[in-house]
Amino acid sequence: MNDVTFDFQENGMFVGLPGGQAYFNYYWLHDACVSCIDPQTRERVFDTSELSAPPRATSAHVDGDMVVIGWQDEAQASHVPIVLLEEVAANGRANDSAEIARSLWYHDHLPDITRISQTAVTDTKEGRARLTRALIEDGIAIVTDMEPSTESLPRLAEAIGPITPSAEGLFFDVRVEIEPTNLAFTAGPLEMHTDLPGEETAPGVQFLHCLENTVEGGLSLFLDGAAVAEALRDEDPEAFDLLSRHYIPFFYRHDNWDYRAHQRVIETDLDGNVTGVTISQHLQDNMDLPQELLDRYYPAFLKFIRMMREDRFLMRFRSEAGNCVVFDNHRIVHGREGYVADSGSRHLRGCYTDRGALRSTYRVLARQGYTGERAVEEVQARA
Ligand SMILES: [Fe+2]
Repeated sequence: MNDVTFDFQENGMFVGLPGGQAYFNYYWLHDACVSCIDPQTRERVFDTSELSAPPRATSAHVDGDMVVIGWQDEAQASHVPIVLLEEVAANGRANDSAEIARSLWYHDHLPDITRISQTAVTDTKEGRARLTRALIEDGIAIVTDMEPSTESLPRLAEAIGPITPSAEGLFFDVRVEIEPTNLAFTAGPLEMHTDLPGEETAPGVQFLHCLENTVEGGLSLFLDGAAVAEALRDEDPEAFDLLSRHYIPFFYRHDNWDYRAHQRVIETDLDGNVTGVTISQHLQDNMDLPQELLDRYYPAFLKFIRMMREDRFLMRFRSEAGNCVVFDNHRIVHGREGYVADSGSRHLRGCYTDRGALRSTYRVLARQGYTGERAVEEVQARA
């Protein structure tokens, strides 16, 4: 590639790439050198703070797929991959295989939900890639044919990431309890919520393994919080702004614990995209935003909660023994209709892993060529 041009400035240089010209800061170029990363540990080994003077480029040329940059008063040149410069010029950062656009879904998503057997996930890379990609794109998937034992759930979860504990420990059981610590452990209806927002880092990915369900009622309810948030952004931008900007308090309190944390109801990333929501009326602490702000915040907050009860967003289905619903606890809002406690048995066993582990697993698989993409026919069928 000989048509790359260089125009040296005081603190950086313009690089003319086939896709257009882009500016790169000298510190950044110095840090982007492939020799700054140790091939053994894959960690950064050059400490930029040890430079005695700001780096200043004196020469640059293309060698194969690298730009080679010579520096004033430095013996060693930097080698920066051209593909990296192109990616940063196009998107502001290097490409990330796990940065996959969310596919928002509504009440009629059930026939399209990704279903995959437990052994496909635990025993094959294709299966693992399929599940992790669905969790990034749709935020939810159903793992079928779960082996009916207590070891079954950790085997599935650990295929995605390490199990992360909560106040309840590594696992929790959702069934009627004599002395419940949470509304979930009763037969009553459970309003739409995300789990444990009172924890500083609320659980990332939730697994709910249905071991038994013979009761009357108790349908599971799920919705895509990102779809509701985007609908709010369209319908009431000021409400969206309030909920995505301000943090409100949540708790999780009982005899032996007293967790408290502040969260944004609508979570956005650096680009302003909705990445998730946090909602839980039963774990909502008294608001501590300035009282005058509450004049505007409460109506926006209640509007969002009421939207979550609208049929256009709600997906209802019956949890069946042998299935495990896996979902992004920061995006997918879930609840349950009430059931008749003595009409049968209902027992779900759950645990969590974190979103970082999910993406890490997906990146490793994608690097090995397992992207988990749906076949063309499936995409057409969904359209
Ligand atoms: Fe829950």
